[in-house]
Amino acid sequence: MSKSEVVSYKPGETSWWRKLFAVKTMEQLQGDIEGSEMKRTLNFVDLTSVGIGAIIGTGIFVLTGVAAANKAGPAVALSFVVSGLAAGTAALSYSEMACMIPVAGSAYTYTYATMGELIGWTIGWDLILEYLVGAATVSVGWSAYFVGFIESAFGWKMNPHWVEAPFKYDETKGFYMTGHYINVPAISISLLITALLCFGIRESARVNTVMVAIKVLVVLLTIFACIKDVNPANYTPFFPPNEGTFEKFGVSGMFSAASTVFFAYIGFDAISTAAQESKNPQRDLPIGICGSLLICTILYIAVCFIMTGVVPYRELDSAKPILVLIGRTGMNWMTTVVALGIIFGLASVMLILLMGQPRIFYAMAKDGLFPEVAAKIHPRFKTPWFTTIVTGVSCAVLGGILPVDVLGEMTSVGTLFAFCLVNIGVIILRFKRPDIPRRFKVPFGPFLIPVIGAALSVLLLCTASPSTIARLFIWMGLGLVVYALYGRTHSKINNPHLARHNRGEKVATENDI
Ligand code: ALA
Repeated sequence: MSKSEVVSYKPGETSWWRKLFAVKTMEQLQGDIEGSEMKRTLNFVDLTSVGIGAIIGTGIFVLTGVAAANKAGPAVALSFVVSGLAAGTAALSYSEMACMIPVAGSAYTYTYATMGELIGWTIGWDLILEYLVGAATVSVGWSAYFVGFIESAFGWKMNPHWVEAPFKYDETKGFYMTGHYINVPAISISLLITALLCFGIRESARVNTVMVAIKVLVVLLTIFACIKDVNPANYTPFFPPNEGTFEKFGVSGMFSAASTVFFAYIGFDAISTAAQESKNPQRDLPIGICGSLLICTILYIAVCFIMTGVVPYRELDSAKPILVLIGRTGMNWMTTVVALGIIFGLASVMLILLMGQPRIFYAMAKDGLFPEVAAKIHPRFKTPWFTTIVTGVSCAVLGGILPVDVLGEMTSVGTLFAFCLVNIGVIILRFKRPDIPRRFKVPFGPFLIPVIGAALSVLLLCTASPSTIARLFIWMGLGLVVYALYGRTHSKINNPHLARHNRGEKVATENDI
């Protein structure tokens, strides 16, 4: 397809199936950038810190334990390398896209511009898994560490019925009742952060930087304080023998664990949603995206080696493996300090995810794919209050009733799917729009890295449990139904007569956090 065909699409003359692939043109996106009222204040240090703020969380503090204990054993460190490669290739592709299309909306906007409306919608819908379900996952991790903190600081033992999920899932038994009622701390933190986001918290990016510093210090403290207790015997066997099913140990278990712990890398793309607030997006977005991911990868692998070196992997089946690790070393004084640091660290991840989701709904509503109420901005607080509440309440419900592994795996497969399409998008745009200047290009040509990235994403997606993949299909199928019933007939580029632009509204941004 030539460039002129892409940019001169005329809705009225086009068949319904071509409408599905109508693209939001670079020129329209440029218009969005020029019409933006967001302030350009973030430099590369701020962006890197937004990235680390969103990346380090439940993945390393919570999921590493269950992944090591039930799937990979000490090879969980390799699982982090594999998922880090998938995230790294996607990070390069995100970097090229983000500096070429520096608008908020992230992967949704990139795919709308490259692969057309239907795929753009698909990704927008899929990102709900990354941001909303991701925040719910973090809320469950937060709850576990909150309970651990209360116990170690005050000696109060909380009633497990009110701090654990009423449902669990097992591939053989399906969903079953645990006998617990509901996870009250998970619900509370979701609602608290939602309230903050509705009122618009006007703290500077510096506050985020402080939170990130605390989080990184907690990780470094854990590594350096526990290294002396590593017992090399715990690394043998590095790959525990497979127990008969794909995900239970062996090399296949290591790959399956990679798809679980992939969750730990999710969040670097939140940097790309801050594109419109970056002072120098062409230079600073790639530095922020790749830099934050590199720092976190190194920290993650180090934590895995320490964790499985100190604690025999079977004993890590806990929602707070870092506290199990510290308990093993006998440094009980550290438990309270580390738990408190993690509580703040996890809350900062939720803040970024719960703020990103309504902004994606906002971008989709602006394009007509969601009802206009999703683009409503509170006149006083300048926040997308309606979608913030919908997001927060949904997150609270999911976090209140579901276990961390079910939520985490859903988030991971959803994000892998998005990463796969962003990698493909880079290849498509290199051919469709070679004329657009790219200050950052994925190295080694348009194919090598994006193809490896897309293939790794698909591989990890396939190693997720069959029930998780089934849930992904159900969710995406539901999305197609919603698109058929609403988006298709209301999209602004396909139904220009319906277009009503709410110009002049300013939505609060990452910069306000
Ligand atoms: N990567 C983030 C976490 O692990 C979402 O919590």
